[in-house]
Amino acid sequence: MYDLLHNLPYRYDGLEPFVDAQTVKLHHDAHHLGYIKKLNAALESVQYTAIPLSDLLRNLREVPASIRQVVRDNAGGFYNHNLYWEELATGEQGMPEKLGKALNGRFGNFENFKNEFIARSMSWVGSGWTWLYLDTQKNLQIGVTLNHDNPLMEYCPLQGTPILTLDLWEHAYYLQYKNDKKTYFDAFFQHISWTYVEQLYLQTP
Ligand SMILES: [Fe+2]
Repeated sequence: MYDLLHNLPYRYDGLEPFVDAQTVKLHHDAHHLGYIKKLNAALESVQYTAIPLSDLLRNLREVPASIRQVVRDNAGGFYNHNLYWEELATGEQGMPEKLGKALNGRFGNFENFKNEFIARSMSWVGSGWTWLYLDTQKNLQIGVTLNHDNPLMEYCPLQGTPILTLDLWEHAYYLQYKNDKKTYFDAFFQHISWTYVEQLYLQTP
């Protein structure tokens, strides 16, 4: 079964002012942990052996049909939140050269990329995640998925490898921002560890 102990790489208040300590604690300790627990319970119910999480997402068809939707929702919730916490930084970080060049090459400049990422996030109705991902041709793409779907999943309309994600669920921002999603999206860009995102970009096969 999957390890319940996913530690944040910073304190609960480490992401302020982007997200406050109360939101981070609830989001991480209740929501994120809840997905891992539900995933483990579903897998245990059919005695399905846990495999590396990314492999589980890529091979949902191999999961028994009786638990496939629960696994899709909760393995997605587990993976997506892992990436979200790991990619965030306690303060604004510089853009490393290789990732910066790739973003400029694809979107023209960083502002274009940021504006498109936020515009796609703003236009989404309901729960989901915004992604920067490498498609199967290794082109950088922006897209949004429903609920906890993820470009690694074989059922997902987007196909590829995620390198950056933004949580669009209300639990991610509502305590602090209420209905002001735009301010949450803008603040997100002040707390991204671009070095971490570049690592994912460079290690994608
Ligand atoms: Fe979340």
